[in-house]
Amino acid sequence: MKRIHILGISGSLRADSTNTIILKTVGTLFPSDVTFEIFEGLGEIPHFSPGLDSPGLDSPGLTDNQALARFKTAIGQADGVVICTPEYAFGVPGTLKNALDWTVGTGEFNDKPVSAISASPLNTGGNNALASLLLTLTALGTRKNEASSLSIPNVKGKISAGQVTDKHTIEALREQCGNLLRLIG
Ligand SMILES: Cc1cc2nc3c(=O)[nH]c(=O)nc-3n(C[C@H](O)[C@H](O)[C@H](O)COP(=O)(O)O)c2cc1C
Repeated sequence: MKRIHILGISGSLRADSTNTIILKTVGTLFPSDVTFEIFEGLGEIPHFSPGLDSPGLDSPGLTDNQALARFKTAIGQADGVVICTPEYAFGVPGTLKNALDWTVGTGEFNDKPVSAISASPLNTGGNNALASLLLTLTALGTRKNEASSLSIPNVKGKISAGQVTDKHTIEALREQCGNLLRLIG
């Protein structure tokens, strides 16, 4: 039987990103027969503009961008996707939104089971970014339900030495993993 494979996408490019740490912890919470990888290279994806996603004389090279090709392939090959993102200026980081916009025309996220997580050092938990991300994931036609999202407030106190240490947060992340696997079916 084919192994379930999950792709993690962090909305932060920072080396010591709290969101990437959360994703790494998520990767440890799936059953051992589930494989998990975090996408690397979100920042190398070019700026999206309509028309650039289809080959043509006005878009030489962009459809050949390696990071973009890897991104689309990684989503296409994953059975489910976990996105964990910070909030910047009450919204989704531009880098993440840009990458998602590239998939509107090609449909890699269509019917893809997803979990959406936001984390913030503030007590608002990145709620604005999460709400915006969920709208985008709806536009992309992802498979999700009312339990497919989690916001993590005051994140700095819940992480230590590169791991999530807060047991309530770990339990909530474990529920995200379980819900995602049920969506995959
Ligand atoms: C330009 C900028 C804007 C930010 N805006 C928000 C915001 O609107 N809401 C929020 O909760 N945090 C905001 N933050 C704080 C981030 O949540 C914080 O830097 C967080 O650690 C980033 O996530 P990371 O650790 O995964 O990189 C902002 C940070 C920066 C640098």
